[in-house]
Amino acid sequence: MPTKNCQLHHSKGSDKESYVSSLLAKMTLQEKIGQMSQLNNDAEKLDESIQKGLVGSVINEVDVIAINRLQKIAIQESRLGIPLLIGRDVIHGFNTIFPIPLGQAASWSSDIVELCAKIAAIESSNNGVNWTFAPMIDISRDPRWGRIAESLGEDPYLCSTLGTAMVKGFQGNNLSDSSSIAACAKHFAGYGASESGRDYNTTNIPENELRNVYLPPFKAVADAGISTFMASFSDLNGIPATGNKWLLNDILRTEWRYSGPVVSDWESIPQLVTHGFCADKESATFEACDAGVDMEMASDNYAQHLISLIQNDKISIEQIDTMVSRILKLKFDLGLFYSSFTESPSSTVHLNDFHLSHAKQAATKSCVLLKNNKQTLPLSKNTIDTLAVIGPLADDGYEQLGTWAFDGKASDSITCLSAIKDYVKDSVDVKFSIGMETSRSNNDDGFDEAINIASAANIAIMILGEEAILSGEAHCRSNINLPGYQEELINAIYETGTPIVLVIMAGRPITLQPILPKVDAVLFAWHPGTMGGPAITELLFGEECPSGKLPVTFPRAVGQIPLYYGQKNTGRPPSEETFVDINTIKTKAPQTSLGMTSTHLDTHYSPLFPFGFGLSYTQFDYKNIKVSEYCVPMGKSLKVEATITNTGDFDAEEIVQLYIRDLVGSVTRPVKELKGFKRIYLAAGQSETVIFVIHTDELAFYDRQMKFKTEPGLFNVWIGGNSDTELKTEFEVFCTEHDEKI
Ligand code: BGC
Repeated sequence: MPTKNCQLHHSKGSDKESYVSSLLAKMTLQEKIGQMSQLNNDAEKLDESIQKGLVGSVINEVDVIAINRLQKIAIQESRLGIPLLIGRDVIHGFNTIFPIPLGQAASWSSDIVELCAKIAAIESSNNGVNWTFAPMIDISRDPRWGRIAESLGEDPYLCSTLGTAMVKGFQGNNLSDSSSIAACAKHFAGYGASESGRDYNTTNIPENELRNVYLPPFKAVADAGISTFMASFSDLNGIPATGNKWLLNDILRTEWRYSGPVVSDWESIPQLVTHGFCADKESATFEACDAGVDMEMASDNYAQHLISLIQNDKISIEQIDTMVSRILKLKFDLGLFYSSFTESPSSTVHLNDFHLSHAKQAATKSCVLLKNNKQTLPLSKNTIDTLAVIGPLADDGYEQLGTWAFDGKASDSITCLSAIKDYVKDSVDVKFSIGMETSRSNNDDGFDEAINIASAANIAIMILGEEAILSGEAHCRSNINLPGYQEELINAIYETGTPIVLVIMAGRPITLQPILPKVDAVLFAWHPGTMGGPAITELLFGEECPSGKLPVTFPRAVGQIPLYYGQKNTGRPPSEETFVDINTIKTKAPQTSLGMTSTHLDTHYSPLFPFGFGLSYTQFDYKNIKVSEYCVPMGKSLKVEATITNTGDFDAEEIVQLYIRDLVGSVTRPVKELKGFKRIYLAAGQSETVIFVIHTDELAFYDRQMKFKTEPGLFNVWIGGNSDTELKTEFEVFCTEHDEKI
């Protein structure tokens, strides 16, 4: 049974506005500022502060008994009995850990992503958490940046679609349902463009680029009803986001009409001083509050300085009232005034069979097959006598969880080694060698043992990559190769002549070019979470067919970064005809012999694997692309279709992707833009005609005057299995006389 707030009874049906304004009328200024303060669970005198009504939210408490105790203090011992928001980074699962968000994005499945978030909400709310700081929808085009792991990749459309699905999963149909939690769009905005992929770094993003690339996912989740936003740590064009009134007020509130609260990032208010944007903490408090940050996370500047700012007429009491009411309304929407305790947490919720089976499903659909020479995969336990399993990530329940998995336990994970053994049972002799102590080890002490077991095996499955610590917040890398001696380990196993199946667990794209020729197959598994082992095993042995597609471009070399499919054409685009590899020129050469195009001399201009790429155990043939009409009036829709046939032997799923190019724009447009995708199932031999409907509004972009509109003209349109597809046709959008008059 839910417990009612003893001092402020109300029924769920009562009117939010009047409830919140009558509550606000009873509050002292200190109590109002208290609502604007979020404290960490280890803050000094936390109980006392809650009792005095000086805390609106607590972050990082996940123990149900402790949360209930804090809520009881807030509700029963504070003057007005206002319940607490209990925040936690529930990023890719709570106790059941799903693939990292970048991995989930590789599933290209709103259903998968929504259910991961829903389960995370069910498990965390059962412990009393009511607010998560997810989804992270920063467009990420620099794989050196550790937080790319938390992102949904490089593309605005994919990120908007999956970000919206995540919000639905967390928030459910009704925020006041006991298993719904508030979601938070972060980090608003531009954080993913941190210079050179160094965390917390400067971002310089021209307004047009910001609006066309970085903001769309935030606008999408705002439109989908997300409850909260988080202001980024980062400096946006000289004005840190936490103090950026143009961003937080003009765009978010005035243009987008977002009405929920904005929380700062961890200590991002005092960091306005460190940025050199404010001289002291009082002015940092002013800038953040005036910009529209309603709640301060972790630090106490609002508590320290807001009163004097109000007394000095820098901040008005009306401003404070508006901000506090946003927080109170969220509490109302969450049903906290009605039911704030988790009185009898269900013991069957956490890590239950359904949650684990979805974790396996999500990991299965997230893995991307990058190479499969001579159909090395799938393996068959009937044709293998001895299997060598090698690598530091083969049997490590912790590392497979990835970054931001605070509430997942290594002991709940099923590793690849144990899943493989369980799958093959006695029919195959499985030998294991760790090869290297960690993915970073810089010695070959373990190589001999690994070589010995590989030499005696029919197949070597090498499970390599990055440990969890190598990605995530403040975990950026200047090289994104396989760290430590892993390339050497692959070379050593290659020398044995035993075919190699490489499974990579990592939080980012890895530059695989140097080792690609040495391995027969590559399955990229990201950090797959609790059920990574069984998911990978079933893929390796053909119980499941790989279907994940890359949500981010894989470069050949780190020097190509940033490299993304939606780049601009430039005035001198590279092409196969003009590209000259400097390594092939053995004599002195005049400069103009090098093609004079936009590429590097020492690397091909193309990526190693393009956005949207992923192989299957079967093959898909794409043909007959057609548009329903060549000339499309502005304001109408057209249909684009193609026929896809599964020409191989496996029943499988394929992610059919639709890209467009606006050939001429008042500002230059990307060479390709994803505008639709569908995950379809085709039995071996089966064909399907997939139809996409595109409205001309979906072709809109921000122009020179920052007007969002579709421009008439010619468009290319492609349907294919990745962004490098060639199956293309075109259509033209034209303005009617009526359009031209307006
Ligand atoms: C991160 C946020 C996170 C917050 C709370 C910060 O360091 O940037 O993404 O939600 O901490 O843990």
